[in-house]
Amino acid sequence: MTSSIEITHINAPDDVSFERLVEILLAAFAFQDDIVDPPSSAKSVSVSELQWRFARDTLFVARDGNGNIIGQIWIEDVGKDAYLYKLSVDPAVKGAGIGKALVEAACAFARDRGKQHMRLSVRIELEDNIAFFKSRGFAIVGEGVHDGYDRTTFWKMARDLQQI
Ligand SMILES: CC(C)(COP(=O)(O)OP(=O)(O)OC[C@H]1O[C@@H](n2cnc3c(N)ncnc32)[C@H](O)[C@@H]1OP(=O)(O)O)[C@@H](O)C(=O)NCCC(=O)NCCS
Repeated sequence: MTSSIEITHINAPDDVSFERLVEILLAAFAFQDDIVDPPSSAKSVSVSELQWRFARDTLFVARDGNGNIIGQIWIEDVGKDAYLYKLSVDPAVKGAGIGKALVEAACAFARDRGKQHMRLSVRIELEDNIAFFKSRGFAIVGEGVHDGYDRTTFWKMARDLQQI
């Protein structure tokens, strides 16, 4: 399946359906509903949010052999490092190597622009996701607390881009 997957850097907003990206985000993050506290911000994602993010950040999508969008990853420039977020794969094609391919494309993009690390945040409850990112070369480098909470709610992870 991976062989027919194409990872594309989206350069213009007309080259992508933001409605489809919202659909994937809602479907992919739905499993977290009863798991993470506070709820994921992905639950309230909208086309207008993705439009302003597109104006600021970098978007890669995964397409299947028919050109259908089946995954996405967003990259924010945070100075000497980059930060990835909203990584999501259509649940219908989960586990087929698409998430891995998106992470690798994002890391290569950031490395080629001289970024030292790729950073991300992951909820402490999501052990499978933490394992996924560790398998991609990320390590836990810190912890974070959402507003209104008095305990760790997310881990900060980072990958050294000079190693790829
Ligand atoms: C996390 C996510 C992006 C992974 O994408 P994917 O296409 O399903 O993952 P891949 O097929 O590329 O998996 C890569 C590896 O991680 C493993 N893996 C992926 N998701 C896993 C899971 N939930 N549990 C255990 N292992 C997992 C795969 O087995 C594979 O291992 P391998 O390289 O040894 O074969 C995807 O499952 C998703 O959209 N999840 C919901 C949204 C989300 O949680 N995003 C991340 C927020 S921090």
